[in-house]
Amino acid sequence: MQQGRDGFSSRFGVIAAAAGSAIGLGNIWRFPYVLGENGGGAFFLVYMAFILLLGIPLMLTEMSIGRAGQRNPYGTFRFLAPKTKWYLVGVMGVAAAFLILSFYSAVAGWTLQYLYDAIFNNFAGKSSSELFGMFTNFTSGVYTPSIWTLVFLMMTGLVVVAGVEKGIEKYAKILMPMLFVIIIILDIRAITLDGAKEGLEFLFKPDFSKLDSKAVLEALGQSFFSLSLGMGTMITYGSYINKKEKLFSSATSVSIADTLIAVLAGVAIFPAVFAFGIEPDSGPGLVFITLPNVFQQMPGGYVFSVLFFFLLVIAALTSSISLLEVVVSYFTEELKLTRAKATIVAFAGVGVFGVLCSLSSGPLKDFHLLGFTIFDLFDYTSSNILLPVAGLLIVLFAGWKWKRMSVASEVLGEGIKENMLFKIFMFIIKFIAPFAITLVFLNAVGLLKL
Ligand code: TRP
Repeated sequence: MQQGRDGFSSRFGVIAAAAGSAIGLGNIWRFPYVLGENGGGAFFLVYMAFILLLGIPLMLTEMSIGRAGQRNPYGTFRFLAPKTKWYLVGVMGVAAAFLILSFYSAVAGWTLQYLYDAIFNNFAGKSSSELFGMFTNFTSGVYTPSIWTLVFLMMTGLVVVAGVEKGIEKYAKILMPMLFVIIIILDIRAITLDGAKEGLEFLFKPDFSKLDSKAVLEALGQSFFSLSLGMGTMITYGSYINKKEKLFSSATSVSIADTLIAVLAGVAIFPAVFAFGIEPDSGPGLVFITLPNVFQQMPGGYVFSVLFFFLLVIAALTSSISLLEVVVSYFTEELKLTRAKATIVAFAGVGVFGVLCSLSSGPLKDFHLLGFTIFDLFDYTSSNILLPVAGLLIVLFAGWKWKRMSVASEVLGEGIKENMLFKIFMFIIKFIAPFAITLVFLNAVGLLKL
């Protein structure tokens, strides 16, 4: 299996692919809306702490495991820990990929509709409340959102069948930096709006009275979601990384880029939220209601809105292919399906659930399971339960099951002596990360009161 396996050709290729996976709807759609629902600044601080303390070490751990295993996540655990149950972590990853891909495609479908609206200049002249109505009208429909969901999934499937490196990766290297530039321009417009100050305070001024145990768990879930952790994505990508590559700097660069984009998205959105009288806890529609308002208020707004939604679709695509890739690599390597068959099977399954997620804002709005709509159930359980639990198991594996020497030879390079940074890293994955994740969990389910 190791021989003839595809790999990333350059250092920038590795970072671009992993960053392409990490940067997506999680940063621009999910981060602002979850932050808005959890009171703002205090959530932001906790989120940053989780990225630094848990996110970066976990990303490094996943990449190391993947590079040592040279297989899909399931196969990797089978290979590194034969005759044990660790492969179940890989199975959990495939399940999580399935759930995430379902609601992810539904939201990506919204971005396709918004790209269409931007091209036809449909935001022009609409007031803030009309833009709100436009969003709810569209998402509560039956056919249009479902069709966009399937279109997006099909785009993802086509890229995955065709192979990741030659097509999308080449374009992503150019398009991702463009997204960055567009967000900065939006930031400049947003912070010069009347009333921007209130938005920036909401984002950056912590009010700890708004922070409850549920918010802390959601900050943890969001940090893993945004960095594509706890699901085997970074294990899979790690398996394509060249042995000479320094994983420490790859993991850090990807995490920094991802966090930067999330913060910049927050800066583009919250000043506008307050300037246009939108509720910060509007939920999943937040970006779709807020940004069209901003476009209206800037010279060249038409061009920027088309560019922005186009780049958002691409950002979503480079993330969704990394989700589908985990499922497909499992199907092909373990169930011996051909790549095309594996993709079709995955497409059919996710297609059904994706449409159900999309209908959750419309006809299935009042259909609740465990108190959640299907959309929220998939979103909540995958991000706040599956990812943290799998993340916990992954650090426990690397901290306690894997030989310290093997970890060191991946993280530092073969035969290199442990340095201070590595000792800190080991301490985090052995003690701090397992302890912190468990604590956040028990606290949120109410078994422990802090
Ligand atoms: N991180 C991506 C985003 O922010 C989504 C994503 C891709 C993901 N692969 C993942 C989330 C694996 C969790 C796990 O949009």
